[in-house]
Amino acid sequence: MAVRIGIIGAGGIAQHHAKTLCTLPEATIAAAADPNQANAKVFADSYGSRTYSDAARMLEGESDLDAVMIASGADVRLEPIRQVCERGVALFCEKPPALDLASAVAAKEAIERAGILNTVGFQTRWSPSAKRLRELMTGRRILFARVVIAWPVFKWVEDGLAPGRLYTKAGCGGPMIEQGIHYQDVLRYITQDEPVWVQAVADLGKTEPIEGRDCEDTTIVTARHASGMVSAHVHNWSHVEHLLQMQLVGNEFDLTWRIDEGEVVVGRLDGKDVDERLEANPYAEEMKGFVAAVAAKDQSMLRSTYADACKSLAVCVAATRAVETRSAQDIENV
Ligand SMILES: NC(=O)c1ccc[n+]([C@@H]2O[C@H](COP(=O)([O-])OP(=O)(O)OC[C@H]3O[C@@H](n4cnc5c(N)ncnc54)[C@H](O)[C@@H]3O)[C@@H](O)[C@H]2O)c1
Repeated sequence: MAVRIGIIGAGGIAQHHAKTLCTLPEATIAAAADPNQANAKVFADSYGSRTYSDAARMLEGESDLDAVMIASGADVRLEPIRQVCERGVALFCEKPPALDLASAVAAKEAIERAGILNTVGFQTRWSPSAKRLRELMTGRRILFARVVIAWPVFKWVEDGLAPGRLYTKAGCGGPMIEQGIHYQDVLRYITQDEPVWVQAVADLGKTEPIEGRDCEDTTIVTARHASGMVSAHVHNWSHVEHLLQMQLVGNEFDLTWRIDEGEVVVGRLDGKDVDERLEANPYAEEMKGFVAAVAAKDQSMLRSTYADACKSLAVCVAATRAVETRSAQDIENV
């Protein structure tokens, strides 16, 4: 029997995931809930899903859901997470897990009490390169890591390709909480080396001023990790190109994952050249992995949990606070 999924928040990323889900015979998009009826209608028209104006009505009206995907903005997550916990079905929660640690911890505790299968939408963990690098780095001493991410996010908003809330910290939490979290999360996944404290600097940048925008153009986060490794992460939202790289350096390796080229890892390891080029779509892998885990009722098939995602959020909350206070911040142990 196909896994029956209900969707809360039928906007951009939900519609993106739906394109994969509808290709999987083992999944059905049973229903979608969104106060924006135009977005909900996309699901009725494209997938024959029943539509609702809010999450509570959907959960009341759909008695045989196996899983719920929450893809509304992170500012309206806690209540639907609690409702999903009450229903006792599997949860796919888009990133970030919340905008602040208090809400994240409240949601984490509700999920733990309910004992439901759960995951957060960190598709970068589903890149074969991330898994490969994690295997290669296991047991090795990384001296430093360098992460450089630049995208035209402000241009996407200007062109109507991304929501306007990405201009403001009140709307999205800021660049690190909204998006930098993907790369802090996958760095934690690959290195298995928890950041302990961070320092950060950010600036609104030299791009055209946009009224009300307080999300910085460029943020640079440096972190000291538990092993003594130091990482530096540059995160920019105004570059005209896509530039996404992660470099890991140790005495016997120097590996760069060219994330902007897909699944490309190049460099040197143990005196030998590395040039690995794989084909994969991490978003699709993530959806397939979630559906398979729900069908098998097996949490271990998933690459992230809500509880673990709270740790990535804690890094980004500390980085955001470091920018605001211009002082180093310990990362809260959540
Ligand atoms: N994993 C990724 O790469 C990725 C990419 C984009 C967005 N996201 C995340 O997904 C989330 C949504 O982003 P988006 O770009 O799709 O935003 P969006 O604005 O396009 O969609 C959000 C939808 O949620 C709806 N909504 C608002 N309040 C609601 C409520 N109370 N109940 C039900 N629906 C409600 C809105 O009407 C809208 O249709 C964000 O947390 C974002 O960070 C993740």
